[in-house]
Amino acid sequence: MKPVKIRENIYWVGGVDWDLRNFHGYLTQRGSTYNAYLIIDEKITLIDNVKHYLYDEMIERISAIIDPSQIDIIVQNHVEMDHSGGLNILMDRIPNATIYTNANGIKGLKLHYKKDWNFYEVKTGDSISIGKRTLSFIQTPMVHWPDNQFTYCPEEKILFSNDGFGQHIASSERFVSEYPFSIVMEEAKKYYANIVLPYSKQVQKVLDLAAPLAIDMICPSHGLIWDTYIPELMAAYKDWAYNVTDKHRALIIYDTMWKSTEKMAYAIQNAFENLGIHTKMLNLQFTHISDIMTDVIGAKFICVGSPTLNSSILPTVAAFIYYLKGLSPKDRIGLAFGSHGWGGQGVPIVQHLLGDPKECGFDMLEPIKYQYIPSDEDLKAITEQLQNNISIKLEEQ
Ligand code: FEO
Repeated sequence: MKPVKIRENIYWVGGVDWDLRNFHGYLTQRGSTYNAYLIIDEKITLIDNVKHYLYDEMIERISAIIDPSQIDIIVQNHVEMDHSGGLNILMDRIPNATIYTNANGIKGLKLHYKKDWNFYEVKTGDSISIGKRTLSFIQTPMVHWPDNQFTYCPEEKILFSNDGFGQHIASSERFVSEYPFSIVMEEAKKYYANIVLPYSKQVQKVLDLAAPLAIDMICPSHGLIWDTYIPELMAAYKDWAYNVTDKHRALIIYDTMWKSTEKMAYAIQNAFENLGIHTKMLNLQFTHISDIMTDVIGAKFICVGSPTLNSSILPTVAAFIYYLKGLSPKDRIGLAFGSHGWGGQGVPIVQHLLGDPKECGFDMLEPIKYQYIPSDEDLKAITEQLQNNISIKLEEQ
């Protein structure tokens, strides 16, 4: 349990959660980290903290550098318990330390832990000196909770971004430069899609606030430290925050009971392929909804298929659509499709959940429903009809 030096007198002292596989519904197949950073200056400063069960790991790392009771200042950039569980334990050991956070941070920490710690409220533009270094604060509300903030150290050109720019990756490597870049970007995209996406408007503001800063290193609270590829990361965040989608990408997401809805899914794929639109087939029996969300970033067409089950839709499809709605991707073209036996309620339900402005609010193509098993001719007709509808819709765009 060794600390990792990231600059002279600045150390990573966080915890690695190798076993984490579920982060409130998000499949974290690579685990995660909770990053905390220790700055040795005239005021010994700890930025962020860890989940409660990794407290001992953090303390072991800190103790390899200093006696933890020497910590003067804690900068708490976020209230959520993956970053404050350890704080609650640490404060019993250093009750006189001052916690620097914003008004929402103070309120949230008090509501979580019912403790009257030594709080110092900061706002965007406030700075403190910790000796040779300055720490300035930028409030970043809703990236990811109302209390989030970034902390910037101009002397080191380091941005401590908490949830912003994170990725759920557990590793012994600490820096992006040490890890396969394509995997880091894929996990950063998945993290954005599953955590940050509903707050894209706020991310736009944060990117504007961060733009004038000279940044050599970004230290997030999850995953690897960005010591390289920062322009690429910023460009990707800009695309994601401004909802850049590609009219030539379609997702076909479905579950199937007796394979009729699946046959329809492949007929739908043919329609897109005939128009030169890239497709991805995502069977909900085999694909996790949080992985589908990564593909939702950037795809213009979101097609969802379900057979009718008990006058409703399959539970896998319902779970996906409700998860999708919560993450609130905008300006997509939707398609509802599926097979049924008699009642046929499934497709209208999907149509409503994707198209209604109070639900996902997508611009919908004509729904496609079929009773029982479509023949080869029926499937050809589905392809041809849909191809026409897609072409008309694209002309309207
Ligand atoms: Fe990593 Fe919003 O907590």
